[in-house]
Amino acid sequence: MCGIVGYIGRDQASPVLLEALRKLEYRGYDSGGIAVVEENEKLQVRKIKGRLSNLDLLVSQQPVQGTCGIGHTRWATHGEPSDVNSHPHTDVSGKIAVVHNGIIENHASLREWLEKHHVVFRSQTDSEVIAHLVDFHYNGDLLLAVRETVKRLDGSYAIAVICEDFPGMLVVVRKDSPLVIGRADSYNLIASDVPPLLCHTREVQYLNDLELALLTKDEVTIYNLEGEVQQREIVHIDWDIEAAEKCGYEHFMLKEIFEQPKALHDTLFSRIKDGKIVLNAKIKEALVHCNHLLITGCGTAYHAGMVAKYVIEHFAMVSVEVDIASELRYRTPLCKAGDVCILISQSGETADTIACLRLLKSLGVVTIALTNVVGSTISREADLVMYTQAGPEIAVASTKALTTQLMCLYVIALVMAKKETGALLEQLMLIPSQAQLLLDKQEDIQRFAARQFNKDKVFFMGRLTDYAISLESALKLKEISYTHSESFAAGELKHGPIALVDESTLVVAMCTQPLLFAKMDSNIKEVKARGATALAITFDMVQDFNATADEVFRIPTTEPYFSPMLTVIVSQLYAYYCSVLKGNDPDKPRNLAKSVTVE
Ligand code: F6R
Repeated sequence: MCGIVGYIGRDQASPVLLEALRKLEYRGYDSGGIAVVEENEKLQVRKIKGRLSNLDLLVSQQPVQGTCGIGHTRWATHGEPSDVNSHPHTDVSGKIAVVHNGIIENHASLREWLEKHHVVFRSQTDSEVIAHLVDFHYNGDLLLAVRETVKRLDGSYAIAVICEDFPGMLVVVRKDSPLVIGRADSYNLIASDVPPLLCHTREVQYLNDLELALLTKDEVTIYNLEGEVQQREIVHIDWDIEAAEKCGYEHFMLKEIFEQPKALHDTLFSRIKDGKIVLNAKIKEALVHCNHLLITGCGTAYHAGMVAKYVIEHFAMVSVEVDIASELRYRTPLCKAGDVCILISQSGETADTIACLRLLKSLGVVTIALTNVVGSTISREADLVMYTQAGPEIAVASTKALTTQLMCLYVIALVMAKKETGALLEQLMLIPSQAQLLLDKQEDIQRFAARQFNKDKVFFMGRLTDYAISLESALKLKEISYTHSESFAAGELKHGPIALVDESTLVVAMCTQPLLFAKMDSNIKEVKARGATALAITFDMVQDFNATADEVFRIPTTEPYFSPMLTVIVSQLYAYYCSVLKGNDPDKPRNLAKSVTVE
């Protein structure tokens, strides 16, 4: 999704803005731009379609001077990617510049109204109305003009505004779209996400919905829509700069795959004291008394929920309902006060998951956020919050966020099952080092991908937790390698999907449920008989599947219900290498954005 940045300080703004935009590239974009103001000078805008290298070149050919500015990477929603549709947008006189992330739902009626007031639009974007509205309400008070503008906007937005009359002032406002303020010595910054701020500061402030902030180089003042000053604590982010850099890896995705042993360790061991799981008392209280647990999220986060359903029902014997957030928010949820819902979101900013959170809260459901980002919307609005210790996840394809979400959900399952100590916990404590053992064998997966990356179709199949992780494996492969991949509950094969299987198909059989090995073996035989190539993924102690599958990849042996944290690493690596072998950039898959902050 679009990214916005802003800087106000003593140094030239443009290099800071361009560097910050590079740190937001991972969110996905198709054009970029900056606007800068300088004392007694005209506001200057540089914007261009395409990669940020185009913008770098443009700014080097036509430099801009000024110590206050805003920047934007655009991910087209209204209007094609083009220079004119790129942000920043300016008012007619060109003295006010605006960058916007989100969607202005009533932009058409606002545009019509502005056109009646003789405003001539330059772009097809929804965002341009904001610049003209700020100008319409501007009477020498920029903050007031932004406040009045916001009152007329429907939709979601993080907006930053500068004006050539006030070269020492940057105004921002947000609703349902992320925006973080970075506090540094004698300068301040804003960004859609934490990574661009990390090389400047780790002290940040978050705006609540419908709050504005006025930034100068020395001060940040937060206001509500009535113009009243709001007090806001400064939050310390303990992610370090290296965590948001590639550190010698070719891609963020590969680095993040390899960070999983540490991320899993940190996520689990921060919750163990004297050999026992210690969960936040309020979360434990809510979970152990719950008769019906609801779990929701989108994409990969939803798949974490799918795994958790099998695990919690198996160990804790509590019924669990899992639904995709974009479905749950529009159906009739049969929830009542006292029910508990876990909302899973790496970013904590996914629009559909936030909508579910608000809906469920209004029904009296106790909401527990499971997120990776301290201070994100979901973490601030949920009743209770549990953090994954994954560190920043930059690659669009989620890897370490998923495995750490799973680790948290296993911790929850053991607490709900009243097994905070004992054999299961001991098995769980081995998972981080087993993940490392598996990664040490990554070349086997790389070689397999080199042989198989050109398959027309790749189907993943499994039963129980292996089915849930098949869903995730197919998603990972399709999103970065653009291979047609699907997943099936293996027992469903005969009910339709097997019609698709032929010589051009690779079938990956997830086989970590010993009681169902014989069933999986039959499924492998069935697809082989139709000409498919079959890879079985199973435990290192298991000799089954040698005779049936074309290849067998073995993971360290663990409790079968814990296997998703290991099997998924195999499919992450497979997807990664297929993507690279096909010449794609796995960190920036086409059409995808890291944080889906609009519906
Ligand atoms: C897939 C992926 C997406 C996200 C989904 C939810 O690799 O990353 O499917 O999992 O967009 O995002 P969060 O977890 O930030 O709510």
